[in-house]
Amino acid sequence: MAGRIPQSFIDELIARTDIVEVVGSRVQLKKAGREWKACCPFHSEKTPSFWVSPDKQFYHCFGCGAHGTALGFLMEHDKLPFPDAVDELAGRLGLEVPREDDGRGPRERPGEDLYELLGQVTQYYRDCLRDAPRARDYLRRRGLTTETCVKFGIGYAPDAWDSVLRRFGGSPEKVQRLLEAGLVIERSGGRDAGHYDRFRDRVMFPIRDLRGRTIAFGGRIIDAGEPKYLNSPETPLFHKGRELYGLYEARQSLRSIDRLLVVEGYMDVVRLAQSGIAYSVATLGTATTPEHLNRLFRVCGEVVFCFDGDRAGRSAAWRALENSLAHAREGRQLRFLFLPEGQDPDSLVGGEGAEAFEARIAGAMPLSEYLVGELTAQVDLSSVDGRAKLAELARPLAQRVPEGVYRELLLERLAQDVRMPAGRLAQLLGLDEGQSPAPAPRDARRPMSAGRRPLLTQAILLVLHYPAAAKTVTDLAPLAALPIKGVEVLVELLRSAQAEPDLTTARLVERWRDRPEGGRLLELAGAESLVTDAAGAARELRTAVGKLISEHGPERRLDELIARSREHKLTAEEQQEFQALLKRRATPGRPPDSA
Ligand code: GTP
Ligand code: MN
Repeated sequence: MAGRIPQSFIDELIARTDIVEVVGSRVQLKKAGREWKACCPFHSEKTPSFWVSPDKQFYHCFGCGAHGTALGFLMEHDKLPFPDAVDELAGRLGLEVPREDDGRGPRERPGEDLYELLGQVTQYYRDCLRDAPRARDYLRRRGLTTETCVKFGIGYAPDAWDSVLRRFGGSPEKVQRLLEAGLVIERSGGRDAGHYDRFRDRVMFPIRDLRGRTIAFGGRIIDAGEPKYLNSPETPLFHKGRELYGLYEARQSLRSIDRLLVVEGYMDVVRLAQSGIAYSVATLGTATTPEHLNRLFRVCGEVVFCFDGDRAGRSAAWRALENSLAHAREGRQLRFLFLPEGQDPDSLVGGEGAEAFEARIAGAMPLSEYLVGELTAQVDLSSVDGRAKLAELARPLAQRVPEGVYRELLLERLAQDVRMPAGRLAQLLGLDEGQSPAPAPRDARRPMSAGRRPLLTQAILLVLHYPAAAKTVTDLAPLAALPIKGVEVLVELLRSAQAEPDLTTARLVERWRDRPEGGRLLELAGAESLVTDAAGAARELRTAVGKLISEHGPERRLDELIARSREHKLTAEEQQEFQALLKRRATPGRPPDSA
């Protein structure tokens, strides 16, 4: 078992992550004052009641009550288990997730030694290329320079059944690791029949993750043969539908990536990079998946898909379009570039040069144009029937586009062809917003009366929402001494917030995730509060703490005991308490228990 993720790391992660970015890469946010709003991704609605606060680093939906931190959002929205959500945030920041030693001997982190093994094999293949004139000659004929080969870590797998096996498979455990890494294959006949190298006599392209670690390989046959390319199988480190070949190298070459060009082949990426177009990536022989799209738009706002102009290319392009619709929105550019039949970026850029190829990219077709073009080609626009058919064809596609400016523009574009007003078309496609009630102004949102919460709860809520207000409570000792259940939670929150002035709501809440009170604190962090500014929060907090002390503190108890003594003689216990309270009054600042 892997050890626990240290709390301090989660805290750092929350401190360095911007929830607006995390949510914004999945939901179209609109700026609204200091905050951001959107239609809630967790329930169906037509007017936005989902808010993201950069100050609190917290999201909250006033419609369905969903709320939480960036981590919580990933868990809810991407349906990720906690450790995976942590991985995701860490990956964005380029951080390694540390694990606490759980006292069970050496930590076993699945994958950790696979990375190392794959790294060693990458180096081995590179060494082999040096001694393989045939492979080097092939790469030269494909137009690759040594520099490019080094940059992409290109190597050569020798023409033998056991070169990796012999070098890296010295024990049954090591062979097992090679098998897990996808580098060897089990002979049919089971374990005892032995293993052999997966990649033989091929030019090897390491597939790297964002941190530059090899997670898999693609191997090309030299000259002709079948299969032309051989990829690593799915392994604990490699999921084909998620990876983008060349993204690491693009990151290395460019200070900032403004645009990504998605191509089909390894050679395309490598050759484009060599020509100076360093922003291309390839899917690995699969269609573009929604996971690819998430990754692409996490990197930048402009994505150009590049396809062969032949039938296969066209149908791959249409599938990419279908998967892209859910990602289309204002502020993003999605375009399609079709190449002349029989050409790919590799051959084109080799033939016509980078400038001409970039001109093609500049002229790529916007998604909306491609979509409308394809649909209108299927119908006869001069007939009413044809136009009705167009609307019918467009319906399932337009429904995938998130509501917003982008969809409106797309509808307008379609409406021209269907020759009806955009509003009418929207209605026809079931995309009209007409029926929903006008949005309530934000300040008119029904506040849950803060006054009706118990004082302690009110105070906790204020600290959670406005951690900076904690500094107004200067002396925590009298508060800590109060005989109220749960007061220790308030005191701990105040201490944390005082110790770090820039603590956010999200960081406070995440620190309690695994503790019994964590759920309740999360709920309070997501609850509405009447107080809407830091100064007000500080005032309210001071008042609440003052009241708690006057209502439950020693003075109050003394008064009670005196009143009681007038009615009847105090019990021995009460007398003892009375004495202790009096004594404490003489030496203020010490909690009664220590007296
Ligand atoms: P070159 O012929 O070397 O220029 O290859 P390419 O990069 O132009 O590849 P092509 O356009 O033929 O294919 C695009 C991508 O599809 C490749 O980079 C591979 O990822 C994948 N692919 C192509 N052929 C095969 C194959 O035979 N098997 C597998 N698994 N994938 C392939
Ligand atoms: Mn090619």
